[in-house]
Amino acid sequence: MNHYLKKGEPALILAPMEGVTDFPMRALLTELGGFSFCISEFIRVTQEILPEKVLHRFIPELKNGGKTDSGCPVFAQILGGNPWRMAETARSLVSQGALGIDINFGCPAPIVNRNDGGAVILKEPHRIKEIIKSVRSSVPSDIPVSAKVRLGWENPTEIYRISEAVIEGGASWLTIHARTRSQGYAKPVHWELIGEIRKNFPIPVIANGDIWSLEDFRKCREVTGCEHFMLGRGALGEPTLALQICRELGISSKTTAQLEEYADFRERWVPLFKRFVELGEPQAISPHYTVRRIKQWLNLASRTRDITWAEPIKRATNLAEIWEAF
Ligand SMILES: Cc1cc2nc3c(=O)[nH]c(=O)nc-3n(C[C@H](O)[C@H](O)[C@H](O)COP(=O)(O)O)c2cc1C
Repeated sequence: MNHYLKKGEPALILAPMEGVTDFPMRALLTELGGFSFCISEFIRVTQEILPEKVLHRFIPELKNGGKTDSGCPVFAQILGGNPWRMAETARSLVSQGALGIDINFGCPAPIVNRNDGGAVILKEPHRIKEIIKSVRSSVPSDIPVSAKVRLGWENPTEIYRISEAVIEGGASWLTIHARTRSQGYAKPVHWELIGEIRKNFPIPVIANGDIWSLEDFRKCREVTGCEHFMLGRGALGEPTLALQICRELGISSKTTAQLEEYADFRERWVPLFKRFVELGEPQAISPHYTVRRIKQWLNLASRTRDITWAEPIKRATNLAEIWEAF
């Protein structure tokens, strides 16, 4: 039973991004608002079943009923090729409070693929089915089990067979990042194939890939016909984008006035960065690491706007230098 993603009820989901949408970033972005739920960074399931302590390190929200402080559910994403170990990890995550399980069949990293995880499994759709089935049967029926895929390994039309396998495995929904593994992050993003799957397969489909602006979102909605969307890099590149999209989807709980107030954040990066630093403190995240993360964030912001004003920050080596650069 899927309580989270229903036909006729639009939704916007924060994408899993390893090293980007970690605990403080999830806290910050869900505090700004707009997301229906988010997915954790991937947890790699290898030879050992990970102990509770490690799972909590990946998803500190487990201690908070599986939600961020602002009440947004965080589903746990797992990655691996062994159905039994994946199922045991899912069972453990759910027993500790995870509200849903997402399975990663999209990671393109060579080291992950060489170790039988992520996109490499797209080459063998029967294994997608086995893994989902095994995870599905290990957790209670009210816990959603979803799959996140790319279009295929090499050929985008592999998505038809992959989607069949996802449905046969019993997934609650399917997120499609509309690129193949071979493409990496290169263009084009094939939103039209997401539309084909949505039209022809009986499963809710979340459209993902290259939504950087409200215009991109409108185009993606038009091409795919979807009502469920996932936002990754664009959520950082434009911190008000989630709210803008929600308003367009008719699901924003914010009033127009509140949105306008948020819109002021457009050029007010300092409060955002300061809040990010503050949210990372209880996790004892080192200032050095935080500096790297702020630079990474500005790099994403520079994809859609001119931020030459941020040049001095690229050379900053500590937080004090960053604040000074502003
Ligand atoms: C740095 C980075 C890390 C990522 N980590 C994950 C991950 O842990 N799990 C996953 O399913 N996808 C991961 N992705 C893929 C994103 O979830 C998303 O599918 C992709 O970035 C396309 O969406 P976007 O154009 O909105 O960013 C990652 C992407 C990036 C850029």
